[in-house]
Amino acid sequence: MDKMKIALVLLCCVSFAVAIAEASEFWDDFYVNFGDWKVKYPGMETGKIVDLALDQETGSGFRSKYPFLFGQLGMKLKLVGGNSAGTVTSFYLASVYEKWSELDFEFLGNTSGDPYILQTNVFCEGKGDREQRIYLWFDPSADYHYYGIRWNKDLILFMVDDVVIRVFHNPKDLGLPYLEYQPMYVYSSIWNGESWATRGGAEKTDWSQQPFVASYKEFDVDSCRVDSHGEEIEDTHECYKKLYSSWYGQPDVGKLTQKQVDDLKRIQYNYVIYDYCTDAGRFNSTPPECARNWPQYWTES
Ligand SMILES: *[C@@H]1O[C@H](CO)[C@@H](O)[C@H](O)[C@H]1NC(C)=O
Repeated sequence: MDKMKIALVLLCCVSFAVAIAEASEFWDDFYVNFGDWKVKYPGMETGKIVDLALDQETGSGFRSKYPFLFGQLGMKLKLVGGNSAGTVTSFYLASVYEKWSELDFEFLGNTSGDPYILQTNVFCEGKGDREQRIYLWFDPSADYHYYGIRWNKDLILFMVDDVVIRVFHNPKDLGLPYLEYQPMYVYSSIWNGESWATRGGAEKTDWSQQPFVASYKEFDVDSCRVDSHGEEIEDTHECYKKLYSSWYGQPDVGKLTQKQVDDLKRIQYNYVIYDYCTDAGRFNSTPPECARNWPQYWTES
């Protein structure tokens, strides 16, 4: 390495360290887990906005420093505008165990003027294949909107602003596992999905438009943080105690309200474009938990 190169390397790393220090509120809870030179802090005065960028070289992402168990976890996102075909922006919770749990929001970009798809999925003990896809009722690149997950012993709600778009009821009584013992980290990322994301891969990414930027703010947790040392998770006992004393662990939060039932019906009738439960060609028989994904079930509970 010549002197010039060393000087440049030093300069880069010093300015990066300063950026992190000034934006400390966000970075108290998160770190960049890939593509760190693509991460920007345009709201550095407030320390509250983070931009993730994708270009032909790499995407980028961040992850929480600690995992969480139960509660409500969400964030506001503003997605890539204009021609976002081929881009995939994700916001998800995932555990680090071998039989992992995962709750996903994935935003599949589109050509200008065509709608994004929001795909959600639920993994319990490593088993996923539970995709649901919807169109949104607004342009998610025009402004920030809240995306979040409410999670207790009875159910998991996927929320967009204050609208419930999906429910996953605890299926243990059907002999299926539920997400009830594995704390999960919060992740977000933007990456290149041009081989499949937009009209099944027919629309490729227009790299002349790079970088593609997704923006984040207002991370909001009302949950139980579990201490961890590396990938070693501490005892979650305290989080069970907290669950029963918290608002999100109360019995009525384990049932759907009338507003939530109405939201779910409206989404199902007007916005769902794909549901694994109705994909007859995909499974030999309908997955057992699907009986709970229909309005008849919601209104009875
Ligand atoms: C993109 O737009 C086309 C045409 O409206 C639509 O069929 C498709 O579902 C949209 N979304 C994605 C991610 O392909």
